[in-house]
Amino acid sequence: MTDKLTNKVALITGAASGIGRASAEGMAAEGAAIMCADIDAEGAEQTALIIEQRGGTASSMKLDVSVSEEVAHAISQTKSILGNMDILFNNAGIGGGDWDTTIGINLSGVYYGLHHGARELANNGGGVIINTASVAGLVGLVSSSTPTDIGEISEGAGAYIAAKHGVSGLTKQFALMFGRQGVRVNAIAPGYIETPMTAQFREDPAANEFITSLHPIGRLGQPEEIAAAAVFLASDDASFITGVVLPVDGGYTAR
Ligand SMILES: NC(=O)c1ccc[n+]([C@@H]2O[C@H](COP(=O)([O-])OP(=O)(O)OC[C@H]3O[C@@H](n4cnc5c(N)ncnc54)[C@H](O)[C@@H]3O)[C@@H](O)[C@H]2O)c1
Repeated sequence: MTDKLTNKVALITGAASGIGRASAEGMAAEGAAIMCADIDAEGAEQTALIIEQRGGTASSMKLDVSVSEEVAHAISQTKSILGNMDILFNNAGIGGGDWDTTIGINLSGVYYGLHHGARELANNGGGVIINTASVAGLVGLVSSSTPTDIGEISEGAGAYIAAKHGVSGLTKQFALMFGRQGVRVNAIAPGYIETPMTAQFREDPAANEFITSLHPIGRLGQPEEIAAAAVFLASDDASFITGVVLPVDGGYTAR
């Protein structure tokens, strides 16, 4: 354990799996106490257990980020159970879904975190918000069947791109609004990461080869590589960084 986040408390959404779980583990390893929140209550509890078994401090709760009141409640629960909230990681998201569901979770869910969380942190003397965007929050998506001529996109892909571009915009807007009040707001834009969300692509050899080819580094990312960026952005090492959408994508957006 090191100490970049000693005495800090972080609320992480989507903490039951993938990037959220790795980030919960990563921030806990730097000394932060973690509220692991997820619609998958059992998975969130499991993440908290892993942290506690390693000597860290964690709690867990069920949260549906698409419901504004639930997000507000998660923030107040974090404060009452863990004593404070210094870091809010709006990370929960889904990969495929219809328009309303995807926008509700991937965009409104992040907005509710920003809306309730930024004011809370400002009233508390400052803090850090991190959002999980995506390379699909910076550029359009290509598919293996039509890598150059995208043709028609599915409703799910369209909603995903709209939501993630929205997350990029909200990140900048909230950074502007709350900078003077000591709240830094940044986003991470991951390339394809080996989490349950991408299992369907990775299990199909042709699709796996195609998505791998989109990353100049020549491989997909690991959730721990996103967690490392989240730890950095949450820490004082990033004290002059706000309003940034940071690609952590093996070069995906370099072309
Ligand atoms: N895996 C990738 O390649 C990739 C790439 C770019 C961005 N992202 C983004 O990273 C974030 C995390 O994804 P992941 O890859 O770790 O996927 P994952 O499926 O492993 O984890 C997502 C978590 O979010 C939770 N969740 C879903 N809906 C929720 C809701 N309404 N309320 C609360 N929790 C909810 C799920 O239960 C799950 O635990 C998402 O925002 C995703 O869009 C992932």
